[in-house]
Amino acid sequence: MARCYCRWRRVLICVCSPCICLILLFLYAGIMVCMDMNTKAQQMSSTIRSLENEHFVAWGSFKNKSFAPLPKTFWKLDEEAFWNRLQVTVDRHFNPILKPPKIEMGIRNNAFYDSLLRLSFSEVIDLENMRKKIEQLPRQMQDFVGHMKQRNYPVIIQPADSTCGAGAADEKEPPLLLLAIKSTELNLQNRQAIRQTWGQVGWVGTHRKNSHRRQEVGGYIRRVFLIGKENPQGSGMDASELLQMEGQYYGDIVQWDFSDTFFNLSLKDVHFWSWFSSRCSQTRFVFKGDDDVFVNLPNMIAYLHEQLEKPHAEQTMNEFMVGDVIGAAFPNRLCQSKYFVPDSFYKGLYPTYAGGGGVVYSGQLAKRLHDVSRRVHLFPIDDVFVGMCMARLNASPIHHPAFLTFDFPKMEEAEPCAYHTILLVHKRSPTQLIELWDNVSRTRNQCWNVPLRVSDQKVNASKV
Ligand SMILES: *[C@@H]1O[C@H](CO)[C@@H](O)[C@H](O)[C@H]1NC(C)=O
Ligand SMILES: *[C@@H]1O[C@H](CO)[C@@H](O)[C@H](O)[C@H]1NC(C)=O
Repeated sequence: MARCYCRWRRVLICVCSPCICLILLFLYAGIMVCMDMNTKAQQMSSTIRSLENEHFVAWGSFKNKSFAPLPKTFWKLDEEAFWNRLQVTVDRHFNPILKPPKIEMGIRNNAFYDSLLRLSFSEVIDLENMRKKIEQLPRQMQDFVGHMKQRNYPVIIQPADSTCGAGAADEKEPPLLLLAIKSTELNLQNRQAIRQTWGQVGWVGTHRKNSHRRQEVGGYIRRVFLIGKENPQGSGMDASELLQMEGQYYGDIVQWDFSDTFFNLSLKDVHFWSWFSSRCSQTRFVFKGDDDVFVNLPNMIAYLHEQLEKPHAEQTMNEFMVGDVIGAAFPNRLCQSKYFVPDSFYKGLYPTYAGGGGVVYSGQLAKRLHDVSRRVHLFPIDDVFVGMCMARLNASPIHHPAFLTFDFPKMEEAEPCAYHTILLVHKRSPTQLIELWDNVSRTRNQCWNVPLRVSDQKVNASKV
């Protein structure tokens, strides 16, 4: 009986120990696999989370509820419109549900963005029905489409020594504001008027608005003009040599080698952001505007100081953009208009955007716009393109009634302190700039404490 039990025990041990070993091995392998998958998933979800700010998959709540909420994507998911179709192709590559590994690839490899834009372009343009549509677009639009995937034009003129525009001498702290003004080769008069008036560089002092005592504030100002190439046949003269000399003298010209046409203006933004990111990392704010605007620079400086002193300024600066904001605009479908965009090119609303006469944004945001712009196809209207990039960052511009991109409402301009209530007004000639600047300087003592405009009687909100 005892021998029998012993034998059974030996058999049991012989049979069971390998089994137990195997089970343990499986358990171990199982646990390891689970742990590995878990860390992968964690990495993945943190990647997705870190991208969420810049990504567009699910639109969260709108920051500024005073504007009508937009649909999940501001454009229609319409396969028929050319731009929409291109952008959908890019977005699919960044959709973490459809193509998870691509996200990590995109982070590691910057060139990935560029190749993706080109890839989506060739995918869409090869479609038979698309090619027919493009042939029916207006000529200027066809030209735009033909050059759309090219966005690396070389610099022709820029300030020496890697400086971020004119005005670098003797700065004792990082520049407060870079004035980045869109100009053209031939607009020398506008540039001269700006240099003499609101575009002065170096330390500019002012005093706070809405305070009981006159408290001084100020900041270092830099200036740069953003210029493309004039078509020599169009203007009948070649101003490029003059511009070269102007650039050497003032150190405030950046010129790129693309035609300076209306539809090419969004190229100025992408090139400027890239230039800014490599040269102006310390600059706190950027003013980007036209060369026919009047800016009340002292007011602007006081306003920007106010923004920096607000609680949580560090965070809000991450997406700070202010201007004359236009929400949920429809594309212009009148074919005589400068802003005409046919629905075979773009369908849907425009995202919330700031009118292009002049906007101010933080240096931090400029760098983020630079990154995100490499995932957004160029758009023929530059303000809208900037709005699209903002939407991609899930950020919205702040509206301020002191940005008068559609001029003063009737009668208001005649008031003695009118120009002290604004930050900017659009459409002023070089002569007017000089007169206005004199006027504003003369009345400074008399008007020092008038507040900025707060009410918003829009004169004409149907620009685009
Ligand atoms: C939202 O926009 C309105 C203008 O319509 C402005 O008065 C308000 O300050 C904005 N709010 C925020 C939080 O930016
Ligand atoms: C934009 O610039 C490029 C390069 O100079 C030019 O070939 C193209 O025609 C321009 N596009 C438009 C729409 O003017």
